[in-house]
Order: sequence, then C-alpha cells, then structure tokens
Amino acid sequence: MKAYNVAILGATGLVGQEFIKVLQQRRFPVKELKLLASGRSSGRKMAFNGREVEVSEAGPTSFRGIDVALFSSGAEASLYLAPIAVKAGAVVIDNSSAWRMDSEVPLVVPEVNADDCRLHRGIIANPNCSTIQMVVALNPLHRVNRIKRVIVDTYQSVSGAGQAAIEELSAQTRLVQDGRNAIPHVFPHQIAFNLVPEIDVFLDNAYTKEEMKMVHETHKIMHAPEIAVSATCVRVPVFISHSEAVHVEFEEPMSAEKAREILAEAPGVRILDDPTVSLYPMAWEAAGTDDVFVGRVRQDHSHPNGLAMWIVADNVRKGAALNAVQIAEVMAARGWL
Ligand SMILES: NC(=O)c1ccc[n+]([C@@H]2O[C@H](COP(=O)([O-])OP(=O)(O)OC[C@H]3O[C@@H](n4cnc5c(N)ncnc54)[C@H](OP(=O)(O)O)[C@@H]3O)[C@@H](O)[C@H]2O)c1
Repeated sequence: MKAYNVAILGATGLVGQEFIKVLQQRRFPVKELKLLASGRSSGRKMAFNGREVEVSEAGPTSFRGIDVALFSSGAEASLYLAPIAVKAGAVVIDNSSAWRMDSEVPLVVPEVNADDCRLHRGIIANPNCSTIQMVVALNPLHRVNRIKRVIVDTYQSVSGAGQAAIEELSAQTRLVQDGRNAIPHVFPHQIAFNLVPEIDVFLDNAYTKEEMKMVHETHKIMHAPEIAVSATCVRVPVFISHSEAVHVEFEEPMSAEKAREILAEAPGVRILDDPTVSLYPMAWEAAGTDDVFVGRVRQDHSHPNGLAMWIVADNVRKGAALNAVQIAEVMAARGWL
C-alpha cells in the first residue's frame, strides 16, 4: 500500500491532537509525520505510533516533501501557509474557515459529497463542526424527499473554541462553586452554569457568523442553494459534542418511521431513538465516538410536511479531525493524492 508524508499544522491544539489519534486509530498509511505549530511549541515532543515526534515552528519551508497537510491552526495562519504548502506539492485539508466559501475550494463531508474532492486545486476545506453533523443526517432524507426549510438551534460545547476554552470552563466552574467571580477571556460572558447565544461575531443581519456559516456551508455541501436555513447557535457548558434541535420542512409529507428507515441505512449515522426507555443521543455519550447520532425523530405537529429531530456528534472528531482524515482516505483510495 502506498504511504504518504503527512504534516499536521496546529498539532498541539485540540484538533491537532485528535488528528494524531485518528491517524493512528484508522491506520492511515503515514510514511513520515511532521508536527507543526507556532514558535511557542517548538521542541515539544508528541507520541505517534509508539515513537516521539518533535514539534517544529511552521514556516515557508515546512512543507517540502509533504503529500498531505492537515491544517488546524486557525484562519490567519491558514491563509498564509496553505498556498505555500500547495506550491510545495502538498494537498491541504483545512479545518479553519479561511477557504470554505472560496469557489475554487471544495467543501467536503465524505458521506455527502466525496466526489467534490476531485475538483480541488490543492486545498480542500473541512466544514464548520455544526454544519457537518447536520448535513450527514439531512442529506439522505433530502435525496428521498426534497427539503424546503430547516430551522436549527445548536447547543455547542466549549471545545469548539479550542483548548483555551476547555480550560476556561474548568477554571470558571471551580471559581463559581467557591463563590468567586469568573472573569471571561475566551467567551464574551461567563460560560460556567450559563448559556451564551453568541458564537463568532455578529453580522449586519443580526445573525452571528457561526449561524450564517450553517446556511452557506449547507448549501455548498449539499449542492442545494434553494434550502432555506435559519440557525441560532448557542454555547453551552459542555466539554465535548455539539447537540442540535432541527426542524425540517419537506416538499412532501415524511413520516418519522420512514425517516428512521432512511437514516438507519445512511453512512455515518446511528439512530438512538426509543422514548419508552429514555433513549436518545446525548453529548456525554457521543464524546470520543465517530458517528452522528440522531434521535427524538417525530412528526412536527405544527406543519403537515415537518419533522423534528435531535442530532449529536463529537465536534472535535466528526466535526473536525475525523472528517478531514476521511477526506484524505477518499483521496488516497481514489488515487487523487
Ligand atoms: N475545536 C473544534 O471542535 C473545531 C471544529 C472544527 C473546526 N475547528 C477549527 O480548527 C482550528 C483549530 O482549532 P482548535 O480547537 O484545535 O484550536 P486550539 O486548541 O486553540 O489549537 C490551535 C493550534 O494552532 C496552532 N497555531 C496557532 N497560531 C499558529 C500560527 N501562527 N502558526 C502555526 N500554528 C499556529 C497552535 O499552536 P501553539 O500550541 O504553538 O499555540 C495550536 O496547535 C480552528 O480554525 C478552528 O476554528 C475546530
């Protein structure tokens, strides 16, 4: 089997560490692994396949000889380094928002639009974590009965904002329990024992950027610009996994039984749905797993063609590292690397 020289940019971050885990767990054929981060992490050692790999500072010469560059460094570093990596001959799979809406960059969730990888010109973008889990569940339904409108409310874990956000929730929880003030740094308000309906910046239309990402990215991935999408994105004091309450309006009526039947066959989806025994997806149980979990599937009593459901997935795995490695697997399997 052909093996590849792989670089991880942002290796010391939350997604970067998950990249290392996922590459090992899925036995991605890695010839050499290069770990890159900022100068702050230079010299740090991280374990991969039973040996230690030293982290080096990313720079203009970092991508020589690299076949696949997995980026998880944030948009600014990606805008600067992705073109350099492409010029050096690497295919970049980028987790930041930098390239997602670029018309020359495929935005890919392998269960939905793996074929789009073929159109790449060096960069493939990984979608926003909230969008990924939603389209994995909605696309198979849309193929059977066209979706007209989606209303989604998210309950997003702090890990979606990186390592520093996890530390902020831990520290604030202790402070608040001790009756002390919790001063926010990562989030605009205290996140411990609270919900914050603001993820990313506010835009002129009064939605946040995170909410509009769910609109635009859903259109691009599903090749369905006609679907009306409205989102409210909320940060919740959960460490890992995003949860979503999704209300879908179809062109024709769709029963909950039919939807469950379709989803049972859908790649990447696992149904957990039995109200008689309080079985439904939950953030705690989805953490550390690969599937997109769907439950609480029910007819929306307020609309004849409506369905409601609850979708949960690990945002650091399927929402980031796993999805990107799956893209690399598609590229390798189809001889596009
Ligand atoms: N967390 C999620 O669930 C999730 C989901 C989807 C997408 N994403 C996206 O993935 C990216 C990484 O997220 P994260 O949660 O892993 O963040 P994180 O925990 O804050 O990690 C950021 C990583 O980027 C590195 N970095 C920062 N600036 C850099 C620079 N100028 N040059 C090279 N490396 C640099 C950091 O290195 P140092 O350690 O040296 O500072 C660190 O390794 C972000 O764009 C985020 O939006 C995250």
